[in-house]
Amino acid sequence: MAISSNIAQDTATQQRTFEVPKHPQWPLLDEGEKEALKGRIKQLLIEKNAVLVAHYYTDGDLQDLAEETGGCVSDSLEMARFGHAHDAPTLVVAGVRFMGETAKILSPEKRILMPDLNATCSLDEGCPPDQFSDFCKAHPEHTVVVYANTSAAVKAHADWMVTSSIALPIVQHLKEKGEKILWAPDKHLGRYIQDVTGVEMLMWNGSCVVHEEFKSVALERIRKLHPEAAVLVHPESPADVIEQADVVGSTTALINAVTTMENEEFIVATDDGIFHKMALLAPDKVLIEAPTAGHGATCESCGHCPWMAMNALQNLEMVLKTGSNEIHIDEAIRERAVIPIQRMLDFSLKQKRI
Ligand code: 13P
Ligand code: SF4
Repeated sequence: MAISSNIAQDTATQQRTFEVPKHPQWPLLDEGEKEALKGRIKQLLIEKNAVLVAHYYTDGDLQDLAEETGGCVSDSLEMARFGHAHDAPTLVVAGVRFMGETAKILSPEKRILMPDLNATCSLDEGCPPDQFSDFCKAHPEHTVVVYANTSAAVKAHADWMVTSSIALPIVQHLKEKGEKILWAPDKHLGRYIQDVTGVEMLMWNGSCVVHEEFKSVALERIRKLHPEAAVLVHPESPADVIEQADVVGSTTALINAVTTMENEEFIVATDDGIFHKMALLAPDKVLIEAPTAGHGATCESCGHCPWMAMNALQNLEMVLKTGSNEIHIDEAIRERAVIPIQRMLDFSLKQKRI
């Protein structure tokens, strides 16, 4: 299904209005220093009555620490669910800004800290609230569905929020109700949903700078070298990469594929932070990074999100010590933004019961 006619801005002429940062260079720690730092963070988590909620794309040490201390490492849907359900008064969210904001929107009574408040996301940056508001106002007859990777102010305009693990059933549900859908901001995920559900959606023109770099021709070449490998692709990737996938899904779905499929080799098109968990759960499997343009001049082509890379043991310790980097959200925006998020969580609960 062609989508170009439905896209809000012209792909060819869209200007990037934000900077993609270089990856931060964290000082290398030897094993002794690292263990000491982790020990101090564990102690601080207890003293501050805080729990660590981390995404699969963050540094492996942070992921391990989250699990060792009773926190969680997961995809963005489970991060939202876990943080909301946990009774700790402070959540430290290791991930990107929308994940911290979602936690605050759902649990305004909690203190939400993040190792770096500048850790944002190209999808969030590429969807400014004012322009998005104009887009929604121009199409009042549409049900507004936004991806989790957006600011609180954008969510405040939405009817539904979805993450990659629940986008398909929610859009299918809206299709069955006969609703017209306005989708934002990821055009690749949007196009994939259109293809699977057959729903024509009016779309924003955003993309993930990490997933957009996976290259289909190079992937074809690697597949020839590993004909028995299963290809796992996150749906933020371009269509010609998704077309080659054996499994398309959220970070959790891709990890599950590695543990449940019988293949010995997997070619994985998503942020390379995911290999930490995959290797832990399936140490005998061979995991191959899907090709990008290479570790060249830009940090966008290295398969690792520069914003996720802003999370490290060092700044995690700092925020726990100082209580800095707290997420605050204007109450009027929060009250509006919680509606689409809660709708998604209620939908996911109903799905679990079926
Ligand atoms: P998941 O919800 O699949 O973890 O994806 C979040 C994300 O930002 C992917 O780039
Ligand atoms: Fe955003 Fe892409 Fe980074 Fe995920 S990997 S947080 S979508 S920039």
